Amino acid sequence: MSEINLGVTCDMHVHLRDGAMCQLITPTVRQGGISVAYIMPNLQPPITTIERVVDYKKQLQALAPQTTFLMSFYLSKDLTPELIHEAASIGAIDGVKCYPAGVTTNSSSGVDPNDFSAFYPIFNAMEQEGLVLNLHGEKPSTGENGNDIHVLNAEESFLPALKKLHQDFPNLKIILEHCTTAAAIETIEMINKGITDPAKIKVAATITAHHLYLTIDDWAGNPINFCKPVAKLPKDKRALVSAAISGKPYFFFGSDSAPHPLSNKARHINVCAGVYSQSLAIPYLAQVFEEQDSIDKLKGFVSDFGLQFYGVKKEDLKSLDEAIIFKRKQVVPNSISDGEGIIVAPFKAGDKLDWSVKW
Ligand code: NCD
Ligand code: DOR
Ligand code: ZN
Ligand code: ZN
Repeated sequence: MSEINLGVTCDMHVHLRDGAMCQLITPTVRQGGISVAYIMPNLQPPITTIERVVDYKKQLQALAPQTTFLMSFYLSKDLTPELIHEAASIGAIDGVKCYPAGVTTNSSSGVDPNDFSAFYPIFNAMEQEGLVLNLHGEKPSTGENGNDIHVLNAEESFLPALKKLHQDFPNLKIILEHCTTAAAIETIEMINKGITDPAKIKVAATITAHHLYLTIDDWAGNPINFCKPVAKLPKDKRALVSAAISGKPYFFFGSDSAPHPLSNKARHINVCAGVYSQSLAIPYLAQVFEEQDSIDKLKGFVSDFGLQFYGVKKEDLKSLDEAIIFKRKQVVPNSISDGEGIIVAPFKAGDKLDWSVKW
């Protein structure tokens, strides 16, 4: 088999930034084999108004006319149920991203996951509108019991909060983003036990490409691989790989590709969290799926399941092009640059990949 058609591909967790970085990175969504991208709102300041989200989408669309952009708000005290209803009614957003305060890049205006109750009116409005709540599932190391929280247990410690949210809003679509632990995978499995109709799934998880490769040893000593949540133990990685190739519709692709200027990664203080994987998103995945003898499961993971969960309709797509992977080796470039000062180091720079992607 020389070519595999993956259909209309989607990456349901993408950071495109703004300014010069945005101009460099936005076209790389399609280069990496992705047609539909769900865009994160953690700009500075975070995106919390209809005007800004509409404007941001226009900017992205101009940079990449064939890419379909799904947009999100940043959960904060600036949001109101009225705003959620209005944004949903004009199709300005597909979801709202929740960052616990202080856990990652630009999350200082995030929320306290020990007590979501202030946001219940927002979640109620989202549930009514069928919008997705995207959770950055880590407990902060500040606040209640914060002293015992660290990068290795922050995700597992968040899982009770996820279960409670699902109990309190059984019809709210929730995604545990970029999950990194066997414990998170087990929780998603447990919540979905007995559900056979994909249309009935309310709680899903995204899995990145880099977390299918990395464990703790790969970032302890190499800040290029440092991201939040951090890559965990070999047994956790194995659980993520099994979930990705499982063919279960509640596990799908969200790259969490998060570019930072190389100068903010390759330094010894305040290293920015984030792995940039956008420009080779599909080839990174194909490599792992083939190694696992599961290349036939890739289409579900990068196309069908995400589009189904978000309810993306054909008429919303900017392009009906389908991504085709084929066997052609390539070497990951050491950097990508706009030639004017922005340099980003891609994931696995210098390594060989067996697959390429075309449209
Ligand atoms: C970047 C910054 O503000 O310098 N983030 C960071 O330092 N953690 C900005 C960005 O991530 O886009
Ligand atoms: O590693 C990360 N980087 N994790 C996040 O959640 C945010 C992202 C970023 O914006 O850089
Ligand atoms: Zn996140
Ligand atoms: Zn992210």
